[in-house]
Amino acid sequence: MTEPVLRVKDIRKSFDGTEVLRGVSLDVCEGEVVVVIGPSGCGKSTLLRCINGLEAIDGGEIFLRGRAISGMQKDQHLIRRKIGMVFQNYDLFPHMKVMDNLLLGPVKALKRPAGEVREEAMEMLKRVGLQGKAEALPRTLSGGQKQRVALVRAMLMHPDVLLLDEITAALDPEMVSEVLNVVIGLAEQGITMAIVTHEMRFAEAVADRVLFLDEGRIEEEGEPEAFFREPRTERARQFLQSFTYASARKAVKGMAQGRTDGKKTGGKEAQGA
Ligand SMILES: Nc1ncnc2c1ncn2[C@@H]1O[C@H](COP(=O)(O)OP(=O)(O)OP(=O)(O)O)[C@@H](O)[C@H]1O
Ligand SMILES: [Mg+2]
Repeated sequence: MTEPVLRVKDIRKSFDGTEVLRGVSLDVCEGEVVVVIGPSGCGKSTLLRCINGLEAIDGGEIFLRGRAISGMQKDQHLIRRKIGMVFQNYDLFPHMKVMDNLLLGPVKALKRPAGEVREEAMEMLKRVGLQGKAEALPRTLSGGQKQRVALVRAMLMHPDVLLLDEITAALDPEMVSEVLNVVIGLAEQGITMAIVTHEMRFAEAVADRVLFLDEGRIEEEGEPEAFFREPRTERARQFLQSFTYASARKAVKGMAQGRTDGKKTGGKEAQGA
């Protein structure tokens, strides 16, 4: 078997004496998409932040293409170039045009020729439907457009693995699919990814493997079809169910909002409901 691109081995992480990751192990192989799901606070973001060195781990090891990368504090910047990450809140530089945001990493950090990166960036912008936005400032873009730019920016670094942490969580519902479709495109291109998401249908569509994290431990792991249809553990079953209820609640709330908006009553009642 070939060596995994990313290997996380029994990592532990505590904050203020509370253990948030309690021995988490996972492998992500070349071209594989692993989706991590689990309740709020179970440690998903902490896991991704530990992988790309934003948090130091307290125990265990992390390997990138077979090379130990945990504990390499002084070379952290080198590691981060090989591990792309996109968060919930697009962190584009507001005073810089889209293209300048995109050129920054590859040209400044990787010392690649600007002309070559610009060409690649244009090609990628086109692929995500933003060919006309190279000279735009971030504030003139929608949330969904900004996240697509953030994905292009991460990809331009040619990372070994791309980590995505709830990249659609701050978006209006109508923008979610335009961003998730780009991610599905990346998966089809064979980009190696570890994805944290609350979008269950997307998880099912994009994942080669699903990990269910609960209270800092991987409680269940499986192929998406089997996992979503018939989770083995009671905890995962409860989680998936609560999910359905949460979406149902949201839908009902949305309907109530629509009704009050329709009556032009200002929507205050709906917010209080
Ligand atoms: N820098 C920090 N300092 C102290 N506690 C932290 C820190 N970061 C995370 N935690 C705690 O660690 C736990 C796990 O947080 P984490 O953000 O990883 O959860 P999550 O699974 O990503 O949740 P969500 O789905 O809400 O994003 C939480 O209890 C959180 O309060
Ligand atoms: Mg999180």
